[in-house]
Amino acid sequence: MKRRDFMRLTGLGGTGLMLPASLTHALAGETTTPDWHLGFQNPRAEELHTPALKLDGRLPQGLAGTFYRNGPARHELGDRRYSHWFDGDGMVHAYRFGDGCISHHARFVETPKYRAETCAEAFRRPAFGTVFPDVESVASPDAINTANTNILPFDDRLLALWEGGSAWEVNPETLATGERLAWSDELEGAPFSAHPAVDTDGTLWNFGVVPGDGALVLYEIASSGALRRAEVVSLDASPMVHDFAITRRHLVFLLPPFRLDPERFGRGESFIDSHRWYGDEPMRVLLIDKSDWSRRRWFDLPAGLHFHIGNAWEDGAGVIRFDYTRYDNADFVTKAARGLMRGEDVPYAGGHTALVRLDTRKGRIDQDILPEETEFPRVDPRRTGERYRQLYTTVRTRAAGHPLSNGVMRRDIDSGETEHYDFGANVITEEHVFVPGEAGEDGGWLVGTALDVDRQVSLISVFRADALVDGPVAQAHLPYPVPLGFHGNWKEA
Ligand SMILES: [Fe+2]
Repeated sequence: MKRRDFMRLTGLGGTGLMLPASLTHALAGETTTPDWHLGFQNPRAEELHTPALKLDGRLPQGLAGTFYRNGPARHELGDRRYSHWFDGDGMVHAYRFGDGCISHHARFVETPKYRAETCAEAFRRPAFGTVFPDVESVASPDAINTANTNILPFDDRLLALWEGGSAWEVNPETLATGERLAWSDELEGAPFSAHPAVDTDGTLWNFGVVPGDGALVLYEIASSGALRRAEVVSLDASPMVHDFAITRRHLVFLLPPFRLDPERFGRGESFIDSHRWYGDEPMRVLLIDKSDWSRRRWFDLPAGLHFHIGNAWEDGAGVIRFDYTRYDNADFVTKAARGLMRGEDVPYAGGHTALVRLDTRKGRIDQDILPEETEFPRVDPRRTGERYRQLYTTVRTRAAGHPLSNGVMRRDIDSGETEHYDFGANVITEEHVFVPGEAGEDGGWLVGTALDVDRQVSLISVFRADALVDGPVAQAHLPYPVPLGFHGNWKEA
């Protein structure tokens, strides 16, 4: 990035401004980073607010609500910079759609970690992938909870989610941080994953991995927010499990051969560096009966790693089908996600959509791995756990001038038909979510964000879900870039 571009970006001319350490070094000529590294810098301010974004095109009639997003955003504090993308404190964004306009508002989730480190003006606590030499010891996972992974409107509340500890309440209007959520006294501080599944009747299912103990905590929560059931299921190890899926009858887990080594963790290595890849072992599939959690079945897929499952469903003959984004190994999370923080494009085996067919009666499982490089699978939320045909993902095309996705794609998983929209070489696409519109699957909109590296601003786009190839029907530009994040959800007005 050129110095004059940086000044234009900040609009502040530099006087009295605390520059991020990596940019200070870049400006001093100590190192250079590619322009896409902008996605891994702190936001320009602690709170961002733009009442009306500049809009190209027209918002569809009836599209009114708020698109919430979350992601790691405080990557640097004082003279310290995290070394892993997943470490930073969470920043929640609200893109409010109404009256033909979109506004943007963003604030950090002020967890105890965020507050203590802000006060100390330094990162002092362990993070997912970074442990500084003088790190403080902490008493519980919530002491290092960054609430940086997902944001879920549920039961008139807004939950900022991590995966190693509690959900955190955020005010849906002001984005002010509220209380840590405990579903019961007994569950206080228990891990609550960032990928709950909301059933068609409004029931929320979730899980958490208890690191070191080799256990999953299962949750069933009524649409009212009342806990119906929770239980700890023992596993014989602690695999990295980031997401799961539901069908009408089952909870579906994929357990990759990427497991926590408690000895390494005990020696003070970071959480991710304490994991080991066992590439000669299968990825295990665990089915748990929704009505009786003691009824469990195991199946094996070839070794692989995943972060995300799009959806799952089962037919009357006991055949379960689901999709997930499959990686050949753990290189993205152990190597490439560190390279991103240094501005280095570290090669990694990219994610590919895998379509799995699991015949529970015959005990057979097989999968098709598709050629496109994809991530962030989403479906029509009205289809969660039900038969679905349309799968929406980000996609990386050959034109990408950076290490991440630069397009969005729809796949009809029955017919195999696909369409995609390519944002161009120098745009990084983030997760796009399906917003239900007209009746019927595919009748709706795809809404998501992206970072325009050339213009150094973030974008929010609206597509017709059944016509991605036509390009966005509306696209708004923020007057600033925001750090690349992870997940979001739509809340209807
Ligand atoms: Fe995720």
